Amino acid sequence: MTMTDTDATTTIEDLTDWYDAGPADEIDVDAAVVLPLRPPVAVYHLDDGFYASDDTCTHSEYSLGEGWIEDGTVECELHAAKFDIRTGEALTLPATDAVVTYPVAVVDGNVYVDLRGRTGCIVDQLRG
Ligand code: FES
Repeated sequence: MTMTDTDATTTIEDLTDWYDAGPADEIDVDAAVVLPLRPPVAVYHLDDGFYASDDTCTHSEYSLGEGWIEDGTVECELHAAKFDIRTGEALTLPATDAVVTYPVAVVDGNVYVDLRGRTGCIVDQLRG
């Protein structure tokens, strides 16, 4: 599930354990930022909201956040596989496996990503 907006009752306290991805207005529409995690996470800004997924292409390790974003898809720069940003689904070869997506919330102009279910993610060490 990817949540691109929160209702009016969502507060910052509701997102205590979510990863702070920074100000929403610093990510242009049809652009992405790559969060400095291990493994990295890409946060995308589409015309209907924000989405997040693993940044590493499932075909062979390459950054999807560095790829070409258009019509809700991202095209890997290395071998041109396309993924649906909203669902993570691999749309074209050579990738066949989806990328894992994560819930996203925007509260008070800031983007938060729910990585609590992610296994093997090194977050706390990088956040200090
Ligand atoms: S590494 Fe992404 S398509 Fe090959």
